[in-house]
Amino acid sequence: MTVGRYPSTRLRRNRHDDFTRRLVAENSLSVDDLIWPIFVTEGHDTETEVSSMPGVKRVTLDRLAAHVAPAARLGIPAIALFPMTPLEKRDDEGTESGNADNLICRSARLLKAEFPDIGLIGDVALDPYTSHGHDGVLRETPSHPHYVANDESVAVLVRQALNQARSGIDILAPSDMMDGRIGAIREALDAENLVHTRLMSYAAKYASAFYGPFRDALGSGGLLRGDKKTYQMDPANSDEALREVELDLLEGADMVMVKPGMPYLDIVRRVRDRFAVPTFAYQVSGEYAMIMAAARNGWLDRDRAMMESLLAFKRAGANGVLTYFALEAAERLA
Ligand code: PBG
Repeated sequence: MTVGRYPSTRLRRNRHDDFTRRLVAENSLSVDDLIWPIFVTEGHDTETEVSSMPGVKRVTLDRLAAHVAPAARLGIPAIALFPMTPLEKRDDEGTESGNADNLICRSARLLKAEFPDIGLIGDVALDPYTSHGHDGVLRETPSHPHYVANDESVAVLVRQALNQARSGIDILAPSDMMDGRIGAIREALDAENLVHTRLMSYAAKYASAFYGPFRDALGSGGLLRGDKKTYQMDPANSDEALREVELDLLEGADMVMVKPGMPYLDIVRRVRDRFAVPTFAYQVSGEYAMIMAAARNGWLDRDRAMMESLLAFKRAGANGVLTYFALEAAERLA
């Protein structure tokens, strides 16, 4: 690092023109950094907007190919699929997650046939499938009426993971935060010789208020009994995130994720510095909703806030970002 003194050193010189600003830029965003989350739903020929996420839609499978086509055309590397499971298919144990004809498996088969080059990411967690909205199965304990039992949940998650991998999901992304699930899933994949299925673990996932709109999108918010604080991380903690990441890597994760995104950029940076492994961040539904709400009020320039927020993830050390802005950002980058 060079240290000079004013007036001979003037840091504003390099900012004087666009060409020097571009030459000295330390980070950049490209389409290769973007992952687009998509909500799928049952029914025919419909798209419904998520009210708390303006511009984000749940689409039926007969419209899915048309919905994904622009992402494929723009070269977005991967999309992440989330299902709005009909209420009558939800139960206490999340049984539908293991059904080879559930929304995710049908979507995966359809998209693999239509767009063989786009990567498919499947969320591994039971909340879209449970009648109580939790990511695992409940076993009441004397102190906790809605306790999510770890090892019983892992068994169901392994079944869900195999089900998705068999249907053509390329990257399994466990977002449940049970202990030991990465190792259990990796072992089960290996036993079926599914050696190319990648694991992107939501290693450091916090119990956050910023998931509110997502739970609306899935219809799980109103169902949720209690909160997720006994399995998702405490926002007060940072060293603990490094332990979570280390364990998931030892258990066989290929990539790790930090979630939410913008309020947790310090965690992204620490993970990247410590482990130097592929690290992703999730700009979650509440972050999207905040920017959209301010933009709709005329308080923020949406496009500039969007691009700046995405670049911030790169500066923090992320290899890529899951973002509801992926399509709009890719259009601007094209
Ligand atoms: C659930 C899951 C959640 C999100 C992704 N997977 C919500 C939760 O943990 O309650 C949130 C994503 C977002 O807010 O955009 N396993």
